[in-house]
Amino acid sequence: MKSYTVMSILGSIALVTAAGCNKKSEQAADKPADKMADKAGDKTPAKAASAEIAISCGSVGKDYDTCKEGAELWAKKTGNTVKVVTSPTSSSEKLALAQQLLAAGATDVDVFSIDVVWPGILGSFFLDLKDYTGGSEKNHFESIIANNTLDGHLVSLPWFTDAGLLYYRKDLLDKYKEKVPTTWAEMAATAKKIQDGERKAGAKELWGYVFQGKAYEGLTCNALEWVASYGGGTIVGTDGKVTINNPDAAAALDAAATWIGTITPPGVLNYEEEESRGVFQSGNAVFMRNWPYAYQLAQAATSPIKDKVGMTTLPKGAGANARGAAAMGGWNLSVSKFSKHPKEAADLVVYLTGPEEQKRRAVSGGYQPTIKSLYEDKDVLAANPSFALLLGTFSSSVPRPSTPTKGSYNQVSSAFWTAAQSVLNKQATGKAAVAELAEKLDQVSHGGSW
Ligand code: GLC
Repeated sequence: MKSYTVMSILGSIALVTAAGCNKKSEQAADKPADKMADKAGDKTPAKAASAEIAISCGSVGKDYDTCKEGAELWAKKTGNTVKVVTSPTSSSEKLALAQQLLAAGATDVDVFSIDVVWPGILGSFFLDLKDYTGGSEKNHFESIIANNTLDGHLVSLPWFTDAGLLYYRKDLLDKYKEKVPTTWAEMAATAKKIQDGERKAGAKELWGYVFQGKAYEGLTCNALEWVASYGGGTIVGTDGKVTINNPDAAAALDAAATWIGTITPPGVLNYEEEESRGVFQSGNAVFMRNWPYAYQLAQAATSPIKDKVGMTTLPKGAGANARGAAAMGGWNLSVSKFSKHPKEAADLVVYLTGPEEQKRRAVSGGYQPTIKSLYEDKDVLAANPSFALLLGTFSSSVPRPSTPTKGSYNQVSSAFWTAAQSVLNKQATGKAAVAELAEKLDQVSHGGSW
């Protein structure tokens, strides 16, 4: 098992491009060793060749190790080899790198892990996996298969699903005789009370609430949850119309801005998932918004908050349209159409997304399966007592508007996270930010036609 970084791969692409090679000659010159092997094969009896498949795994929490273990299991079973390519932690940076590799026709990565919001952006670079599944896609949640199907092509197989959750410190809520909050206002009040009390008692580092506030896809997920929980919609509706310019959306962003510096450290504007988990897991936050992966890590033997952690659905907003809203996340696996070993790469994807591997990942890493029957598996449920809650969260979670905005989704998301940050930074009011954002999105969408 070798490990490469996407940066080193990009470095070699840059060299090839700088040398003036076009895509065809680059591919032809790619592996002289293979060509020599072919020649030798003219004389010696054919031997089943084993392929080396490069897979780009994630790197948040246990992503890398869990992915590598699964890929190695497949390699052992099939006699092929795998090479694990690491990638950045931020979904937005991962997207930029995948776009560069695929636009360059790179053969270095065979299997890409892709965010649930990317099929419309990258789908044309991937093989139709229907040719390899033997119909097994019917075992997964239909909505994810629909999300991953472009013009009838199944461009990605579901690997795990995600939904935003509220984590809390059970011990601190008990100590202050506070209930688990069900609205954002209750969350903020409880966070402040406990933060003040604990700081007085000497816990100077304690904050009330941490989340993902950096300018990237994670902030889009958080801010969408605030907006949707106030009844302010999903930025763009399923019909492609821009809906963000409304008073509920503005009120949601204004409410979140009041947290910064009071219950939330100002540094949150630079936090991804792992920075939030770092603060919470070291015992320095009462509440945290994060994905399910954080639970098993917070409960690990070495965790300072082991057995003090609770998780529940995200709070409701305020106003007549208030509801609970969790952003729907998740990751899928795709095979690059530039892969030199499409059959083996697709076989690896079918294996990694199949029931045996999804069960192993759920038990050892808390990754939420996309195969319905695993929510009734007793080993999965024993390792993840919260999966019943997660199944409920999954069915009511809010999709980001990647389907209606198609290949423009990343522009929509980056305009949205920029607007959200401007409110959190107190550079704009919620009202001004959503009005300006709607104007920008109307231009990008050509009036909703995308
Ligand atoms: C998680 C989700 C993914 C989302 C990302 C944002 O990885 O699974 O869908 O885009 O977080 O940071």
